[in-house]
This record gives sequence, C-alpha cells and structure tokens, in this order.
Amino acid sequence: MTMRSVIVGCGTCLPRRAVSNHDLMKTVDTSDEWIVQRTGIRSRYIADEDEKTSDLAIGAARQALAMAGVDAERLDLIVLATTTPDHTFPATATKVQAALGMTGGMAFDVQAVCSGFIYALAVADNFIRLGQARTALVIGAETFSRLLDWNDRTTCVLFGDGAGAVVLEASEGTGAAGDRGILSTHLHSDGRHYDMLWVDGGPSANRTIGHVRMAGQEVFRHAVTRLSEAAEEALAANGIKAAELDWLIPHQANQRIIEATARRLKMPAEKTVLTVDRHGNTSAASIPLALGEAVADGRVKRGDLLLLEAMGGGFTWGSALVRW
Ligand code: ACO
Repeated sequence: MTMRSVIVGCGTCLPRRAVSNHDLMKTVDTSDEWIVQRTGIRSRYIADEDEKTSDLAIGAARQALAMAGVDAERLDLIVLATTTPDHTFPATATKVQAALGMTGGMAFDVQAVCSGFIYALAVADNFIRLGQARTALVIGAETFSRLLDWNDRTTCVLFGDGAGAVVLEASEGTGAAGDRGILSTHLHSDGRHYDMLWVDGGPSANRTIGHVRMAGQEVFRHAVTRLSEAAEEALAANGIKAAELDWLIPHQANQRIIEATARRLKMPAEKTVLTVDRHGNTSAASIPLALGEAVADGRVKRGDLLLLEAMGGGFTWGSALVRW
C-alpha cells in the first residue's frame, strides 16, 4: 500500500477588473498585435487596491472546500504559494487560515515564483505521504501586478492577478500508475540564474518592494528546455508514455512556450489547457486557475491523467503527474 494525495476539490478566484491589451494601449507604448503575436495574451485581471492576495486566496479556497465537501476545521495543513504576500510577514497562509475558521494545524507560505504551485503541491503531498497530514489545502495566489513597472513594456504586459486552490485528502493506493491522486512530483532549481528573472527590491536588499526585471529571451530559451525535461522526467518515473496523458496543464507564461513544450511531447493542442489568453501570467496561480477552469467546464474527468509543469524565477521548475 502507498499513501496517495487525492485532489478532492478545486476552486478559482479572479479580481473583478479585466484589462485588455487595448486598455493597456491607453497608457503603455504597445500594441494588441505585438502582445498577441509574442505571448498569446489578450487580456488579464488586475486587482484593485482593496483586493489583496489573501482575498483572492480565500475566494479560491472556499470554492475548493465546497467542492470537496470538506469543512475548514478538518484541514491539517495550508500551503500557500505566492510571490506577492499581503505583508512581508506573517505568512499570508495564516490570514487565510483565520478567515476560513481553521484554528488548528499549520499554515505557511512557499516561495518559488511561477513554480510555486508545483512546489506547494509537492510539500503538501509529502506531508500526506509521511502521515503528518491527512487533509491539506494548497493555494497559488498572486497580486503580481503590484510588482510591475508600468514604464517597462517588456514586462508589464505579461502578467496578471488571480488565485486557484485544491484540497488534498490522504487515500491508500496500490503504488501503481493506475492509482488516483498525485503519482509523482519532481522539483528543481538552479540559482545561477537568479538575476534573469527577479525583483529588484526586498526587505534585506534595499527595504523596498521592487519591480520585476527579466531577460526575456534567455528565460524563454531555458523555459522550453527545462519544461520539456521536467515532463520527460515525470513520464519516465511513472513508466508512462506521453500518448497516455489526457491533459497537459502547464504554467501559463506564454502561449509560444506552452506550444513549444507541447510539441516536444507530441501533445495536440486539444489536450493542452490554455488560459494565458485571458489571464496572462499569474505566476503561482496559473496552474490551479487552469485546472479549476478545465474541471468546472467538464474537460477534466475522473480517471484522467494530468501533467502539471512550471518554471519560474530562481530558476525553479518542476512537474506533478496527477490522476484525477
Ligand atoms: N510592445 C511593443 N513592443 C515591445 C514590447 C511591447 N510590450 N516589448 C518589447 N517590445 C519591442 C522591443 O523594444 C524590441 O524593439 P526593438 O527591436 O526596436 O528594440 C522588440 O519589441 C523585440 O523585443 P524582444 O525583447 O527581443 O522581444 P521578444 O521577441 O524576445 O519577446 C518576450 C519578448 C515576449 C518577453 C519573450 O522574450 C518571452 O516570451 N520571454 C519569456 C518570458 C516569460 O514568459 N516570462 C514569464 C515569466 S517566466 C515563466 O513563467 C516561464
């Protein structure tokens, strides 16, 4: 017998205000054509001042708990992936914990930028596998727009805000790839690329919040290579062929990165969940947002095999293979 983490509920939450490329063109020297051609992004949601990361996280968490039929008091663990916490400390996860009415267990944040959700999922999965938690809430939530330099058109058009969440429950499996739940997670990082995608502020560096800075083409190149490697690694570890996958649910950074990765896996476009056109890059929130959408509209069905993969600043990258 092998302990598995089964995803029993998922939820999403987006800020109220959608901002199209045409809206951006009023204040940024850019064009809809440039953004769509280079990234596939047509619109994104931008949080208003009164919408914080915790608000989005709580919205997504409530939906996920409702779908799972799990009361917050039953949760042993909340892991929240974010690069844009409400405050430098405490962990935004503890704010979510209080709002949900969970008074026991533990709650903390994980920081791996765009790979944050995969990292958080892996952490929660390991807690469950080790028997230290039976029921866990994993959230990816961002108000990434707070980090944008609206005078830097090479970055400000790419990102958006939002949140997604999943509820995990311990369940005994056989240890084989036919089990429901998280079949494997693989995490990687390479800090030599720290300043290829980073924020030029921080409490210890210069007491500021800072803005996103990125070497776009370098990031692009690394992303396609690393994401393909991560996908191959997940398949090999489980003895599964790409053709057996039902859905590729990638981090939504850029449609061209997603298509290049899918091509290498020979995954047809119909089996790839795409939300970047409407959400932009929502960092740690993008995978659970895409998953939540594909579950809500009935694309993802019980028993489907899903490959989740992401890459982000650090660089960090990784994958999770999940049977729904
Ligand atoms: N609107 C109009 N023109 C622009 C814009 C804009 N928003 N931004 C840049 N340009 C111009 C540049 O000034 C440049 O003009 P020039 O040739 O006159 O100097 C021209 O467009 C080309 O600029 P490049 O930076 O070379 O454009 P590139 O084709 O590399 O595309 C992009 C840039 C979209 C950022 C690309 O490099 C990319 O997708 N990188 C991946 C980055 C990414 O997705 N990061 C997300 C986080 S990482 C992750 O999640 C995996």
